[in-house]
Amino acid sequence: MTWSFVPTIVDNWSQYYSNHRAVSVLIRFLHIAALVSAAGPALAMDQRVLLAALRGSRSQEETLVALRHIHKRIVICLFIVAATGVLMTTADLATFLTSRLYWAKMTLVAFLITNGALIISAEHRVARVGVAAGWGRLAIVSGLSALLWLTILYLGVWLTAAA
Ligand code: HEM
Repeated sequence: MTWSFVPTIVDNWSQYYSNHRAVSVLIRFLHIAALVSAAGPALAMDQRVLLAALRGSRSQEETLVALRHIHKRIVICLFIVAATGVLMTTADLATFLTSRLYWAKMTLVAFLITNGALIISAEHRVARVGVAAGWGRLAIVSGLSALLWLTILYLGVWLTAAA
């Protein structure tokens, strides 16, 4: 299979994106709307897990139940963030692919996704070994998660200012 059609599609998309302000605004809006919908509950849950570590086992049990219901929503919203991010990237490949800031952000996005998988695995472990033995690991990955979300947010704003 030949991929020679890809540069043409990217070129056409780039021109379409820069000539249609309504489209570029809509995509940026979707990037930010999905971001708020993913990062908001994720940060609130990270904070709840950390506070539950101080409050003890009853709060930890309640937090565990809430945690189980939140992953699907975050994954769907993060998928929209990534899809709109890819559309913005392909609209200006020359700028973004040569930007260190862009690659720093993408590296942290990869860490965020990996850390998300670690949160789910730590949550399953708590269900197996109990809150007393398993909460420490869950609290560490939740703290890391909050740090990653906020750092990527900062790099995203910086990237737009630099583009
Ligand atoms: C695969 C994932 C992602 C890709 C490919 C991506 C790509 C991009 C690109 C190319 C821009 C610059 C748009 C422009 O200057 O015209 C941007 C903006 C931005 N990104 Fe992302 N991004 C991704 C994920 C994220 C995540 C996870 C966050 C936050 C935690 C985030 C936060 C932001 C913010 C705040 C902006 C500035 C939006 C604005 O002011 O219009 N991005 N993103």
